[in-house]
Amino acid sequence: MKIAIGSDHAGFSLKKEVIKHLEGKNIEVKDFGTFSEDSCDYPDYALKVAEEVAQNNFEFGILICGTGIGISISANKVPGIRAAVCSDTFCAHASREHNNANILAMGERVVGTGLALDIVDTFLNSKFEGDRHQRRIDKITGIEKKFNGGMK
Ligand code: RB5
Repeated sequence: MKIAIGSDHAGFSLKKEVIKHLEGKNIEVKDFGTFSEDSCDYPDYALKVAEEVAQNNFEFGILICGTGIGISISANKVPGIRAAVCSDTFCAHASREHNNANILAMGERVVGTGLALDIVDTFLNSKFEGDRHQRRIDKITGIEKKFNGGMK
């Protein structure tokens, strides 16, 4: 399994913990930045990771900012991306099982490190259930297609 990871400055510290955790499990992880705690803009890192995941270069992405909100909103602008902000393990497995989420977003200012690592493990170990949920994913894709290129 290959994971693409990115954060802004507000998610930098938790991102380092997540990378250490994944590497400890022999999971391949590529860091797309940011690489310091200097202030930066979360859409830049959301775009890098979301493009890689949408192009199927990585199975999943993990994005971290202060809340997980700005970075997930940004990632969800990339067609084919379903980024879910998770602050608990229930949402982490539901986002995979029901929404086939391909990016996990978290907020360093929201979740502690221990919970964040449990959320990561739960997300990566859960599987999409398909069936009626696929019909709903297809409708999400339909919305993307309707507005491809902007508001009509
Ligand atoms: C940065 O201060 C903060 O706004 C950002 O990390 C994120 O929480 C935005 O959604």
